[in-house]
Amino acid sequence: MNGRIIRASAPGKLIVLGEHSVVFGKPALALAIDRRFRCDICPGSGILLNGAGISPRLHPHIDTILRRRNISDLRIETESRIPSGSGLGSSAALSAALIGAVRLMRGEACGEEALALEAFETEYEVQGRASPIDTSTSVHGGGVAVNCPEGLGTPIWHISKGGNSWTVSDIPVPEMTFVVGYTGIKAATGPLVQKVRKYKESNRFASDIIDEIGEVTRDGMRAVSNDDKDLLGELMTRDHKLLSILGVSCRELNKLVDASLEYSYGAKLTGSGGGGSMIALTDEPEKVCKAIALRGGEPFIVRTGAPGVCAEFCEL
Ligand code: PMV
Repeated sequence: MNGRIIRASAPGKLIVLGEHSVVFGKPALALAIDRRFRCDICPGSGILLNGAGISPRLHPHIDTILRRRNISDLRIETESRIPSGSGLGSSAALSAALIGAVRLMRGEACGEEALALEAFETEYEVQGRASPIDTSTSVHGGGVAVNCPEGLGTPIWHISKGGNSWTVSDIPVPEMTFVVGYTGIKAATGPLVQKVRKYKESNRFASDIIDEIGEVTRDGMRAVSNDDKDLLGELMTRDHKLLSILGVSCRELNKLVDASLEYSYGAKLTGSGGGGSMIALTDEPEKVCKAIALRGGEPFIVRTGAPGVCAEFCEL
């Protein structure tokens, strides 16, 4: 690519508490991380992604974004530091960055709320169901709480769909260190979200677990506001057990969570599960990294509080 292009980027995220139950309107807490998805776009002839064509099966988010907007001529170059299918919000970051770039190209309003809504609609269409936690965090950055107790955050937008509604708030988060452990197993979000939906529809017990995750998450948000890492860690580990009962953990995730606990306040899977990644809240990140690597995981320390989406014209 050369000449005048638009360059955009958006952060990945980690869900501290509340994944899956948030799809049913329960609370969730997520933090943007210092791993970003980047894209450059410029007008072209046909759709070219990194020099090749796109397919709805391999690139469902890009295909959905362009189809919803009737875009048939665009060159896109991408680069990502967020492994796909890792539970770290790679598809939400892709959606936020590409939509931000396209909006700027078309001279549309680039306000966060409109962008977050379009990114959420994209994710909803691709997954068949979704909450706005991933997309809102990629768009806004920092700390994002959905349906949090009053007074803990500042509401930034409200989204309703399929009988559920989510008030998305900016939430101040004290400095904390998280280690991510990637299992190396890619797991698509859509099938796991459908699995939980089916379980919930067929079993009252599943609804109770989802309600309990909601309670744990609300308590966790209060712990974050009080900078109480002991309580937050304990709640994260409890959340992992509840998610395991829902059927979204796996042997590899359990192994990495278990290995991290000795040096952590708490640990849990993050994102949709079924593989992907776990997180540990710790003051001894090097020891946790070592424990994760010894059990075959890929560890990295994340910096939270990353800025949200940005898009700008560049001259190459
Ligand atoms: O695995 P990820 O990064 O796609 O996170 C999914 C989070 C879920 O709660 C499982 C789904 C959603 O849309 O909120």
